[in-house]
Amino acid sequence: MLLVDSHAHLSFAQFDADRDAVIRRAREAGVTAILEVGADLESSRAAVALAERYTFIYATVGVHPHDATALTPGALAELRALASHPKVVAIGEIGLDYYRDLSPRDVQRRAFEAQLALAADGRPVVIHCREALDEVLAILRGWKGSGVMHSYSGGPGRLDEVLALGFCVSLSGPVTFPKSERLRAVAAAVPLDRLLVETDCPYLTPEPYRGRRNEPAYVRYVVEAVARARGLSAEAVARATAENARRLFAGLSPGH
Ligand code: NI
Repeated sequence: MLLVDSHAHLSFAQFDADRDAVIRRAREAGVTAILEVGADLESSRAAVALAERYTFIYATVGVHPHDATALTPGALAELRALASHPKVVAIGEIGLDYYRDLSPRDVQRRAFEAQLALAADGRPVVIHCREALDEVLAILRGWKGSGVMHSYSGGPGRLDEVLALGFCVSLSGPVTFPKSERLRAVAAAVPLDRLLVETDCPYLTPEPYRGRRNEPAYVRYVVEAVARARGLSAEAVARATAENARRLFAGLSPGH
């Protein structure tokens, strides 16, 4: 089974002791490409460095809504410079988080819009959205680019609005949890050519490893849960989600 993990944070400190071993296990598990996602300036720099070191790792650069206050003009200029690296295939993760509200909402909105402008060259965006779907959709409707709703939590009832934007929907570890019927309904309802899978490691660890650190090798458990929800083989879901990732993130070449 050939897999793509469309959202990982391997540069985070949780992997400092054994990063290379984690990446080797991902390869052994059939992971053919990993999208390493920046969440602030430091992790965006680290994502680019990791992508330089490993041919099958690609990078995104961006400042997460939690850290929106850190997006100074200087930081934005550095992100723009980092984004010109050939292995940076998307801008993200960016968006709005009104659940934890770690940055003031008006600052989050300004940071989101400033970073959408970084993707004005046609590059896709990786969106983080929590308890803010109305505003995220309104902003994206005015922007008219492509991208993915990462770890989508909006429920099956809002899917049509996301799909109408042309966006993909990505599912992660919680789709494997016993009580996640809503996420399995999403897994069954998203058109197969719009679905991505991810780990968001070190977070959101799927069953049967829930409660421990997540890693890209575990993306297969997400694929298997999606496959069960759709009545498809895991191979079919792995193949479709890998193709979708390659189509959305131009330059990412699973199978190399
Ligand atoms: Ni993330």
